[in-house]
Amino acid sequence: MDIFSAVRDEVERSLSKPRRDHTLAAQEVCCALARRFSLEEEAAWMASMWHDTSREWNREQLISYAAEHALETTALEKRVPMLLHAAAAAHRLVYELGYEHAGAWGAVRWHTTGHPDMGQLGYALYVADFLEPMRTHITREQRDRLLSLDSLELMMLEIYRLQFSYFTHEDISPEPASLQLYHRLRRVCEAQ
Ligand SMILES: [Fe+2]
Ligand SMILES: [Fe+2]
Repeated sequence: MDIFSAVRDEVERSLSKPRRDHTLAAQEVCCALARRFSLEEEAAWMASMWHDTSREWNREQLISYAAEHALETTALEKRVPMLLHAAAAAHRLVYELGYEHAGAWGAVRWHTTGHPDMGQLGYALYVADFLEPMRTHITREQRDRLLSLDSLELMMLEIYRLQFSYFTHEDISPEPASLQLYHRLRRVCEAQ
């Protein structure tokens, strides 16, 4: 079986219908962003199709997978094991699928919180994951406005702004790595 069929099979096998639909919708947006910003479309397809394949594992499965493979995880992921689905999926991308692509790995690894090392493909997946058309937490106007921005950095920065204002409302502190990336994005976007 080729690697693309293996990925399709895994999405089919491991995800419920709503999450499969989310994955396919995120993949379409991610690949469109990759084409628009001249990123590798094949890596965008792999990362977006694979990003949630461990999302329906239960807490015990995620914790034991992370321990068994000695995955490096953040303090937040230790507190909220559901978030380990990103670290598990990134590891499985290489370990199970044999797909060794640093950009795709970084995109899958950091698709939950964002991270300074997530890279351009990481931004594309984060944006796609946040605003694919099945998402109901944003309006169509917000989605169109985000997609009309001129760079992935601007889109990412705007999404962080939306998320951080929600966090303030809920009295949650953003992750240190997310804050670091936020400040970097601000500097980059001011210079654009
Ligand atoms: Fe996810
Ligand atoms: Fe997702």
